[in-house]
Amino acid sequence: MKLMLHSSHFFILFIFLFLFNIFEPCFAHYRDHKDLIDAPLLTSKLSTNRTIIVSQQGKDHFTSIQDAINSVSDDNSKWIIIHLRPGVYREKVIVPKNKQYIFLRGNGKGRTSIIWNASSTNNTLSATFTNYADNFIAFGISFKNDASIGKSPFRQAVAAMVAGDKVAFYHCAFYSKHNTLFDYKGRHYYEINYIQGNIDFIFGRGQSIFQNCEIFVLEDDRAKIHGSITAHHRKSPDDESAFIFLKGRVYGVGEVYLGRPRSPYSRVIFSRTYLSKTITSQGWTNWSYDGPLKNIIYGEHKCSGPGANHYGRVPWSLQLSDEEAAPFLTVDYISGKQWLPAYYY
Ligand SMILES: *[C@@H]1O[C@H](CO)[C@@H](O)[C@H](O)[C@H]1NC(C)=O
Ligand SMILES: *[C@@H]1O[C@H](CO)[C@@H](O)[C@H](O)[C@H]1NC(C)=O
Ligand SMILES: *[C@@H]1O[C@H](CO)[C@@H](O)[C@H](O)[C@H]1NC(C)=O
Ligand SMILES: *[C@@H]1O[C@H](CO)[C@@H](O)[C@H](O)[C@H]1NC(C)=O
Repeated sequence: MKLMLHSSHFFILFIFLFLFNIFEPCFAHYRDHKDLIDAPLLTSKLSTNRTIIVSQQGKDHFTSIQDAINSVSDDNSKWIIIHLRPGVYREKVIVPKNKQYIFLRGNGKGRTSIIWNASSTNNTLSATFTNYADNFIAFGISFKNDASIGKSPFRQAVAAMVAGDKVAFYHCAFYSKHNTLFDYKGRHYYEINYIQGNIDFIFGRGQSIFQNCEIFVLEDDRAKIHGSITAHHRKSPDDESAFIFLKGRVYGVGEVYLGRPRSPYSRVIFSRTYLSKTITSQGWTNWSYDGPLKNIIYGEHKCSGPGANHYGRVPWSLQLSDEEAAPFLTVDYISGKQWLPAYYY
């Protein structure tokens, strides 16, 4: 028998699928980009009800975030929520490699803050927050390093170091003056985050998408050199890493470069980003890098604002066509559809 489907059948089928929501596998992204990704949405996507609550009043499970993390069993393999009630948590926090599937859920950046004040020539030692575990998600938390670094350009003060694979931060904020976000390695997704700093404030060899993030440049009262937003470290052509900035905006006080290479294949792309006049006309710098420039991929794609004028850019930077930029413009670049609970698109 010949199967004939009239268009009205499709319509009925569509209504059916819509009503029963069977378009959506449990881990799918949401469809309307106007929906904000919030804590209830993420919580429902991760479908867990295992929750540890941390507050400073002593009425919940823990008063220290680190104690809550330590209570998660080693080799945990199901999502567990560590909920941080509003407050300023003054402690250094480390998520060890064997504590996977933690969803660290704050009450909103500005309401839940993790602050510490170490500074060091060793970035790892100074970090306020460090994640070594794969499969980690944070929502609504400010991470801050408020060490007084004085005038020394060698004292670094990392707010967060991200060393796990499949890690996402939603609606978080990162504050420090020097080396704010150590995006060390792994596939990462940052959505609607606020990142503040002056010198090399997003650095490492992560394979990361920064979606709709706000990058705020602080004036630097130390060296008379301009700082750089990124210092990416990609050593070979086979390395998948790059920092990809999609939409979002860069603004602030003082002047900065978009990036400086740390190794010969460094790769950073700003696409559809608003660049204020805080971006120098050269755009990128080879400051303190004396390697070859021919394999560096420093690209801009459809950026806007006074800082996006590319007249005056260093000759080794690129203005990317849609085709050249395409492989980097969706979460497929970090295989996000396989592991992100939600993402903007
Ligand atoms: C958590 O979910 C499991 C599985 O759905 C259920 O068996 C259990 O009763 C729930 N626990 C609580 C405290 O809601
Ligand atoms: C920095 O500190 C970390 C953690 O203690 C250590 O493993 C690493 O070797 C140190 N790095 C350097 C360059 O000293
Ligand atoms: C960190 O804060 C403590 C307490 O306020 C202070 O004694 C210490 O000097 C600070 N360290 C740095 C590096 O800012
Ligand atoms: C930076 O690149 C320019 C060529 O564009 C070169 O003349 C200069 O020596 C380089 N600076 C460093 C520190 O390598």
